[in-house]
Amino acid sequence: MRKFVTISVIFTCLFLFGCEPQAPDVVAGVTSDSWGRLPDGREVTLFHIVSPSGMKMDVTNYGGIITSLTAPDRNGKFDDIVLGFDSLESYLENTPYFGAIIGRYGNRIAEGRFSLDGENYELALNNGANHLHGGLVGFDKVLWDAEPFSDEENHGVIFKYESADGEEGYPGNLSVEVKYRLTPDSRVVFSYKATTDKATPVNLTQHTYFNLAGPASNSILGHELMITAAEFIPIDSNMIPTGELRAVDGTPFDFRKPVTIGERINAGGKQLEYGRGYDHNFVLPIVATSLNLVARVFEPSSGRIMTVITTEPGLQFYSGNFLDGTLVGKGGVVYEHRSGFCLETQHFPDSPNQSAFPSTILRPGETYSSHTMYAFTAE
Ligand code: GLA
Repeated sequence: MRKFVTISVIFTCLFLFGCEPQAPDVVAGVTSDSWGRLPDGREVTLFHIVSPSGMKMDVTNYGGIITSLTAPDRNGKFDDIVLGFDSLESYLENTPYFGAIIGRYGNRIAEGRFSLDGENYELALNNGANHLHGGLVGFDKVLWDAEPFSDEENHGVIFKYESADGEEGYPGNLSVEVKYRLTPDSRVVFSYKATTDKATPVNLTQHTYFNLAGPASNSILGHELMITAAEFIPIDSNMIPTGELRAVDGTPFDFRKPVTIGERINAGGKQLEYGRGYDHNFVLPIVATSLNLVARVFEPSSGRIMTVITTEPGLQFYSGNFLDGTLVGKGGVVYEHRSGFCLETQHFPDSPNQSAFPSTILRPGETYSSHTMYAFTAE
């Protein structure tokens, strides 16, 4: 009888309101447990965030890493749609930035060098001759202070980190706050804030790898991608921007109408060769400081849709080209070549050396502020 009542409620709900069936065991909120210790003995926490819609997100204060995120398919079936590992040890061993907060500067800075206010700075080199994603110990590899919060129907965690003057070569003490929030309408919202006591470049982002087909799917090439950008940023053979903003017209970088990721990824040309596929920044037609819909991904087998909304001027589309079948992820799934994609909202790469790019310099007295949402639906 109880089963019948539950089923009727679900069907009435679907019929009358078209709403998602809510799993009967959903208890929205945030819980946490210990996730082990770092080599220096500090304890790491894993938070479990549940939204009223039944979406679940697990995040740890080590690197602010999203270890798991579930979203419903067109039949209301929830699946984990992000790449990652089962244990803290695997993240400590070797990870291509799965799920992590990236900073102080997301993306590459040529030769790790820049000058600012007449001073020359040299950053840690961790990507051949270049500096990538904050250096040897970027924000993806530090332990953040973390506080769970719930306000009305939103649940999440606020991460804080004090990055010391000189860390990885950067000037100034930087106070960083990153808020992760799950909303009742199945959005994941990231809000970044930072202040400094000395001028410094700042470019924060989030490096989650998605596969909307679910955890065991070993390719993203069938996902249909739309990006609103009319221009992208060509790179040289070291993946550093040449400084040009190039029109996407007539190139494999034109995603203004949805195209599968696989359709033109092997089309050849210097850009796809240098990126080993897509690993490029797209110039977003943004209205500064307001939230703009900049990308949409549709996965045909599950019907899952991910929409990207941001205040940032750039979007790094990375098609998982460095995944090569050597990493064994959650539940023993082997991460094959191009089995996950990233859509990293950010300022353009190497901006501290490119005077024509929007500035990434934060000065004392200013507050860095950036917002991005990933919204999940299905059809
Ligand atoms: C970013 C970079 C890529 C690669 C990945 C991590 O997206 O642009 O080149 O380094 O991170 O593997």
